[in-house]
Parts: sequence; structure tokens; C-alpha cells
Amino acid sequence: RKARKQLLIDMHEEAKQWFQRNLSVAAGDHCRRYLTDRGMTGEMIEKFALGYSPEDWHGLDNFLKSRGRSPEQGVEAGLLSKNERGDIYDRFRGRLIFPIQNLSGRVIAFGGRVITDGEPKYLNSSDTPIYKKGDHLYGLNLARSTMTRTKRAILTEGYMDVISLHQFGYTDSCGVLGTALTPDQVKRLAGFVSRVDLIFDGDGAGRKAAMKSSRMILLQGVACRVVLMPEGEDVDSLLQSKGVDGLEACMNEAPDGLTFCMNTLRAEYAPRDIMTWAKSFLSDLSDASLRAYYLPRLATGLGLSEADFRRDAGAMTPQRNTQQQPR
Ligand code: GTP
Ligand code: MN
Ligand code: MN
Ligand code: MN
Ligand code: MN
Repeated sequence: RKARKQLLIDMHEEAKQWFQRNLSVAAGDHCRRYLTDRGMTGEMIEKFALGYSPEDWHGLDNFLKSRGRSPEQGVEAGLLSKNERGDIYDRFRGRLIFPIQNLSGRVIAFGGRVITDGEPKYLNSSDTPIYKKGDHLYGLNLARSTMTRTKRAILTEGYMDVISLHQFGYTDSCGVLGTALTPDQVKRLAGFVSRVDLIFDGDGAGRKAAMKSSRMILLQGVACRVVLMPEGEDVDSLLQSKGVDGLEACMNEAPDGLTFCMNTLRAEYAPRDIMTWAKSFLSDLSDASLRAYYLPRLATGLGLSEADFRRDAGAMTPQRNTQQQPR
């Protein structure tokens, strides 16, 4: 099994270099121009090992064959696709390629963005023995050393967001990439940092993701702040148009995770729902000292005395030992 995984990793390294080469030759001209137009520097193209998959059904397929890899191995690696008729062909065609690396910097999957129009906008590798969606964070391997020093991580939504953050000096940034943040991803971060700054798009989806993500982060005993982008912007577009000053202005206004959740709940939900949220948050806190820390803060957020909140929360969480609740 180990040899099998090593083979998949080797094929990804070969594919990465092939994609990079294609970005640097004439076929990659419009892809390079696309990146330049979006304000990306050559330094970032190198750092993130960006590449290009040509408009070819058998480009990577043929390259892998030339390296002695069978088409079936290419399919197993998630680099090639197979249709119902059994035809095997390149999964990524005419796309800007983002290699996804694990913590040791080995490429384990790819994301690909259309350059002109087309669907889907982003295509990712399917799950393989070396890559499971939701296990990894984009850019974590590159952000790790800064994170270890600053004890802070910036966590954002997309590939371009992560790269722009690095380009503008925020080298402790990584990305969740489309899916909802998972507890495994939070555990990974918790190994390096004590605080996470979440940067999400200023739209309904971004606010919803911010609620869920900050709750999950706080539950694991990591502090967080929620930085919402102005309506219609993401952190990439904000940095490209307003620079570091524009982002710092947003960061300076950012509430901590609990305040953000309570404010959002107050703005969008009935008081009863807020109480339900607070109780479930409290009962999901596994650590007694964290419960002691958050209990008065939740009570304040609900406009209750600590004693009243403690009594209410106890009544609604029968799995807890209510004997010890103060009367
Ligand atoms: P740009 O348009 O290039 O600036 O990308 P973006 O990162 O701003 O895209 P968006 O805000 O729409 O999505 C955020 C992230 O979600 C992307 O970077 C992708 O990782 C992921 N994502 C978006 N659209 C798709 C899709 O159609 N399929 C998949 N698999 N992932 C997507
Ligand atoms: Mn061909
Ligand atoms: Mn969005
Ligand atoms: Mn964007
Ligand atoms: Mn976006």
C-alpha cells in the first residue's frame, strides 16, 4: 500500500512539472496573461507552482504514458477520467492549475480554474488514496512557518484569496476551498496557532460559513475573529483594489468569533433561537475551563444574569449533571 501511495505521489509531482511547463510555453500565453491581468506576480506563480492544462483530451495522458505510467494508473491518481465507454482522457483541460500540497510539500491533488467562460468554474481532483476532500488546507505547507511564529492563522475561502494574501505579505494564510470547514482541518490549525482570523466573502453564503466555522473553531479552544469583506468583494479583490490598508481597515473592525455569532443571531433570529444556539454551544464545549470561560460571556450576550442562564441551560441539557447546578 505504501508503494502504491508513493506511485500516486510521484505521478502528481510529474504532472505538476508538466502543468508548470505548459504555463511557460506559447500554449500558456493566455493563461499567463490572465494571471497578470488579475495582478498576480511571477513570484507567486512560482511559490504556488501554478500551471496550465492545455486544451487537449490526451495531453497529460500522453505525457504520463511517456513516463511509463498506464492510463489506469492515471485514473487511480485522479489525474485522468474514464467515461462509461471506458475511454480515458485528461480531467483538466484548458484550466489554470493550482497544485494542492500536503504539509510536507508533496502535491496530492489539483484544482483547476476555467480561464475564459465555462462550467464548472473550479474543478478539483476527486478523492484518492492520497487525497480526501476536507482533510487538507490550501497553502498550509507554505503558511506553516509564519503561523508557528505568529501563532495566528488567516483562513479564507478560495485559491486566489490565499495567493493574494501571501502576495500582500500575509504569509500565515490558508484556504478551505469550497467545502465547509471540517473539525479535522481545525485540529490541524490548532496544532500551530492559538488564534484564527476568518476572512469570508461579504455575502449571505460568507456570513453563514463564518457562523459555522467560528463556532467550530471556538469549540476547540482556539480564539477567532471574523473579518467579513464588503458586499460583493472577496479578500483577493479587496487587496487588489485597496491594498493592505483596505484589508487592515476591515480587520480593525472585526469582532471576535463569539460576538460575531451573537450579533448575527440577534440580527437574524428570534430570541428563543439564540438561547438554543447558546445552550448547544455550551453543551458541545468538552472542556470544563472553556465552559467556565464562555458561560458568563454567553449570559451577557443573551442579556441574562449568569445564574439565570446557568439555570436555563441546565434545564435544557438533561445529559448534563444538573445536581451540581446552583439553585
Ligand atoms: P475567482 O473567481 O477566481 O476569484 O475565484 P474565487 O475563489 O473568488 O471563487 P468563489 O468565491 O466563487 O469560490 C471560493 C472557492 O470555492 C474557490 O476558490 C474554489 O475552491 C471553490 N469553488 C468555487 N466554485 C467552485 C466549483 O464550481 N466547483 C468546486 N469544486 N469548487 C468551487
Ligand atoms: Mn491529443
Ligand atoms: Mn462567495
Ligand atoms: Mn475571487
Ligand atoms: Mn470569492
